[in-house]
Amino acid sequence: MSDLQPVGVVGAGWVGLVTAACFAELGHTVVARDIVQEKVDALDRGELTFHEPGLADLLSQNRERLTFTTDIADVLETAKLLFVCVDTPPTYSGDADLSRVRSVVDDLRSDGDHVLVMKSTVPAGTGETIRRDLPGLAYVSCPEFLKEGTAIKDFMNPERVVVGADAEHGEAGDLVEELYRPLGGEMVRTDVASAEMIKLASNAFLATKISFINEIANVCEEVGADVGEVALGMGLDSRIGPAFLKAGIGFGGSCFPKDVNALKMLAGNTGYHFQLLNAVIEVNELQKRRVVGKLQKHLGSLVGKRIALLGLAFKPDTDDMREASSLVLSARLQGEGAEVVAFDPVAAKGAEGLLGSVTMADSALGALDGADAVVLVTEWAEFSDLDWTEAASQMARPLLIDGRNFLDPETLHAAGFTYEGIGKSVSSSAPVA
Ligand code: UGA
Repeated sequence: MSDLQPVGVVGAGWVGLVTAACFAELGHTVVARDIVQEKVDALDRGELTFHEPGLADLLSQNRERLTFTTDIADVLETAKLLFVCVDTPPTYSGDADLSRVRSVVDDLRSDGDHVLVMKSTVPAGTGETIRRDLPGLAYVSCPEFLKEGTAIKDFMNPERVVVGADAEHGEAGDLVEELYRPLGGEMVRTDVASAEMIKLASNAFLATKISFINEIANVCEEVGADVGEVALGMGLDSRIGPAFLKAGIGFGGSCFPKDVNALKMLAGNTGYHFQLLNAVIEVNELQKRRVVGKLQKHLGSLVGKRIALLGLAFKPDTDDMREASSLVLSARLQGEGAEVVAFDPVAAKGAEGLLGSVTMADSALGALDGADAVVLVTEWAEFSDLDWTEAASQMARPLLIDGRNFLDPETLHAAGFTYEGIGKSVSSSAPVA
């Protein structure tokens, strides 16, 4: 065992496994516990149950420092610091479901010496509720800011590390700070409630930026402006910044939709009406549906039309289908009577059973065969390398709606496509009749 502080991780999902792999890479002994036996067995065999670039390799390179278990006792025996990384899905009321968090707290009831480090995204006030329930528990809020698809890079190079500990648990906060210090990044030491709010407010703000630029894109379409140019010009103002100003067919994933709603509900539960977040959510819902109108503009009724979707995952480099825009879009297209065929390099399996009667193709070109239009839903890198001339020749009509403004319009024109993005004027070189 190394001299470095051992680390316990509870919940071997996206955040938990990245946390485990990265602390092991930094030289710590890590014990990770998950209640699902099959997941632990798969991890023992070196298999991942989801797609995250580089993670399987990082886990295998650090195998000797990593233990996977279903038994919380194994974690408690080895590590003082317990990183809680269980999921907190939304409930019917829109609040976060904290049952998995509570069950970890129950595991610590008869224990006086551990530090609970909360990485799961929880409503502000959760730390205080837990400490009221278990007054002796040392509690630190250390929210995670990694993104799926670039999780390891984000974890290893944090822009900031937030450590929220109240005065009586300052030493516990110091232990967590020490663990993260080798990674660099600005250290934000604060109280628990503020740390919890930093996480929710950050996700809500990023989602607000996306809905804002999506509304700007919709206005650009009306006035003949190009949202890409507008975002560039805006982003050069350091007060605005260029990030998260990519217009498209809406945000998805396991975090933004859930966290925006959870913050809205959290405010509502205190009697405060968070008006702005209502708009962020509504704009996002409508944005996923706008593609249908664009297709109808070119094709008229969609009844019997064959529409190909390129990409299904909520963003590239992940197989995560949670709240993916493709779910709403494919259901709307089927609702209009279209025949939908889709291709995704890794999310096809995860999408099974979620997309109604959508046909899955084995390749991007296979999906386009005989299609009346293609919608680029997820900006997988391989789609920019597609032979678009070949694609146009296989389609019934060479019409492309670029839901992520990802492809080069000139290349598409040269291939014979009518190209329409989001927040740009339509340009065409081939008649669509
Ligand atoms: C998000 C946050 O970015 C992370 O900081 C946070 O840790 C994470 O949630 C979480 O709370 O766990 P993630 O959901 O993995 O990360 O993905 P993002 O890269 O943020 O993208 C979210 C969605 O916004 C995607 O559907 C993406 O296509 C969309 N998006 C993003 C846009 O439409 N436009 C943009 O400019 C950026």
